[in-house]
Amino acid sequence: MRSVLYPGSFDPVTVGHMDLIRRASALFERVVVGVLHNTQKPLQAFSIEQRISLLQEAASGLINVEVCAYSGLLVDAVRQSNVDGVLRGLRAGMDFDMEQQMARLNRQMAGVETVFLAASPSVLHISASMVREVGRLGGDLRGLVPDSVRERITDTLGGRSKEGETHG
Ligand code: PNS
Repeated sequence: MRSVLYPGSFDPVTVGHMDLIRRASALFERVVVGVLHNTQKPLQAFSIEQRISLLQEAASGLINVEVCAYSGLLVDAVRQSNVDGVLRGLRAGMDFDMEQQMARLNRQMAGVETVFLAASPSVLHISASMVREVGRLGGDLRGLVPDSVRERITDTLGGRSKEGETHG
C-alpha cells in the first residue's frame, strides 16, 4: 500500500489524530485525511469547514498529507481519492470490535483493505468527545489538541458553552 485514506469525524482534531497522521506520513507516499460530512449528525461542535481548516493547519508541515471532505460511503471516498486503502488507529480493546466490523464490511462491499496503526501510549486516553467536554467546561486543552490550533478550538468550544448558558 502506497497511499491511504485516513477517515474520521475529527470533531475536532486531537493530538491522537496527529500522532497517527505524522506516523502515516512517514510510512506512505500519500496520506489523504478524509473528514466525514455527515448531514444526518447536525449537532457536531465544529462545522465541516472548521474541521478541515483545523486539520490543514495542524498538518501544514507534512507535505504528503492532504485534507478533504467526504460524504456517503467510505468505500466511495476511497475510490474518489484514488488511494490504495484505508488507515485507522487503534487505541484500546473497545475500538477493536467496531473497527474489525467496518474493515470486513468495506472489504466485502468493494475489496477495500484497511490497515491499522496502534496508537502511541501517550495518547491512548485522548478522544475528540473528551476534548469537547473539557473545552466546553473551561478546561485547559494543552496536550490534548495540537498547539497550533489550541486557541481556535478553545474559543469555539468555550463560545458554544457560553451560548448554552445564555439560552438556559
Ligand atoms: O472518527 P469516527 O467517527 O470514529 O469515524 C467513523 C467513520 C467516519 C470513519 C465512519 O463512520 C465512516 O466513514 N462512515 C461513512 C459511512 C460508511 O461507509 N459506513 C459503512 C462502513 S464504515
